[in-house]
Order: sequence, then C-alpha cells, then structure tokens
Amino acid sequence: MKTLLITRDIAAPVVAQARALFDVTVHAGGALDGATAAQAMRDYDAILPTLGDDFSAEVFDGDLRCKMLGNFGVGYNHIDVAAARDAGVTVSNTPDVLTDATADIGLTLILATARRAGEGERMVRSGEWGGFGPKNLLGTHVTGKTVGIIGMGRIGQAIAHRCHFGFGMEVVFFNRSPKSVEMPAQQVDTLAEAMAADFVVVTTPGGAETTKLIDATAIAAMKSNGIFVNISRGEVVDEAALIDALERGAIAGAGLDVYENEPAVPARLRALENCVLLPHLGSATAETRQAMGQMALDNIIAWTRGEIPQQAVN
Ligand code: GLV
Repeated sequence: MKTLLITRDIAAPVVAQARALFDVTVHAGGALDGATAAQAMRDYDAILPTLGDDFSAEVFDGDLRCKMLGNFGVGYNHIDVAAARDAGVTVSNTPDVLTDATADIGLTLILATARRAGEGERMVRSGEWGGFGPKNLLGTHVTGKTVGIIGMGRIGQAIAHRCHFGFGMEVVFFNRSPKSVEMPAQQVDTLAEAMAADFVVVTTPGGAETTKLIDATAIAAMKSNGIFVNISRGEVVDEAALIDALERGAIAGAGLDVYENEPAVPARLRALENCVLLPHLGSATAETRQAMGQMALDNIIAWTRGEIPQQAVN
C-alpha cells in the first residue's frame, strides 16, 4: 500500500476513502514549514497538501520518495511547481468546485463593506446601539454601481455574473490576455481603468507574476469613495500601501479575505472601522470543502494508476 500524508484534517468521508486505498497519516500540527515538507517528501509516496504548507524550491532537492502533490485548493503559489516538475513531481489543484463559494465571499465582502455590516455588528454586540436613526451608519448603495474585476478567470467571471445579473452593476475588467465573456462586461486596457470603478475586486492567481500588482500607484487610481475587495492572495496587494490609503481616507473601505502574511493581520488594519476582515473563508462551505478534498484525492488516485491527474498543473 502506498503511503499518503494529508497535511490537515479534511472531510471525514474523503479521509475514510483515502484510508481504504492508502496507508494514511493525517498531520496534526498545522501548516508544514519547509523542513517538515522536505522530510515529508522523503517519507511518503504522495502528499495531499494545502495553503500555508511551504513547498518552495529547496523542498524538491535531492532524492525524493514523493512524486505526487494533490493540492487541496485552487491556488498553488505555496508550491514551486517548476521545481516540482524538474524533480519529477506531479502537482494538481482543485479548480471549479470552489468557484461559486469563493464568488459568494466576494459578494459578501462587497455588501458587508458598502453597508458597514461589520461596524453594525460590533455596535449591536457591544450594547452601544441606541436604536434606529435616519443617519445611523449610512453606507454606500451597491445596486447599479460599477465593478472593476482584476483577473477575469473562473472566479472573476462568477463575481461579474452575480454583480451584473443580481445587482444591475456595470462590469469592467482588467485581464492580462484578451478575454471574451458571455455577459455584458467591458475589458479595459489598463489596470488603472478597472481600479477607477466604484467597487474593485481582485481575483487574480497569486505567484510571482502578480506579486504587488496592486501597488500604491494602482490604489491611487481608485475613487475616494471606492471600495476595494481582495479574495485572491494577500501578496497581490501592497498591504502597507492599502492601509495607508484607508487611513488617509483616500478610499472609502476595503473587504479582505486574504493577507500578505497570513494568519498575521497588521494591527493598523484591524484598527480600521472601514474594513471588513475575514479569515480566508473563500471556499469555506462544508459542501465545497468536501468536493475539494474529493478532487484532490481523485487526482492522487489517478496518479497511482499511472494516469495524468485531471487537474494536473505542471
Ligand atoms: C483558496 O484560497 C484556494 O486557493 O483554494
């Protein structure tokens, strides 16, 4: 029986299925650091890792027993896939099954930030609410506004769809390559044009090509009443520049699901009332997380059969 390391506890039916096919170890100590990941590459035939595990280039040095990483998650910027390929290690991910859940979190952040839901929640819970008032916690209207999507992949399109058909919003998007989509949406030539929308939602993949794509210059292209949402990866945004813009009131607010150094969230950001801060919940529905686990496992099973896993990325 091949050995399989699952680096975090995942849905019970998936673990049970894995146990029937592999000699399974479920890692209990949280995310793998580089040294632990490197050791695991020597100890197991296959690994089912996830976000936060450190599979950077050095992990793939030397003689490896593990030749398959069936990642749990669509993003795999925590895995150096080029180094993996050079070491003969197949890497797969879990696209599609999390598109709707992640797009829903994008809308959650648009609405919660625009309508000051976090502030309102804090007010009610602290006992400070004094009752209905015509000018209490006035937010920003969402319906009919413009949304700028940065990165029009599967999740970007699902958000655009919700914004347009659900909220009558005009959609503009910035994407590196030309993209035709089956809904009214205008591709713009520059990042600045998309940043100038009423709501900006970042849905690019992480990784070297998008690191700090949203820098101080990009943020400066936003309207002073603009709202910024990031559900992709924290590293895509210059977090310090974003905090600076929020503190200065250069933009109206931000809804964030991801951070530059997760799980650390800067105290300056946590102090800002005009931000809604979620703990990386994009795909966190029970149904989606089970489907992700199943897809990751199915990819590993395909690899054991000598097939190219359906969601192989390298
Ligand atoms: C979540 O962020 C994922 O990449 O699946």
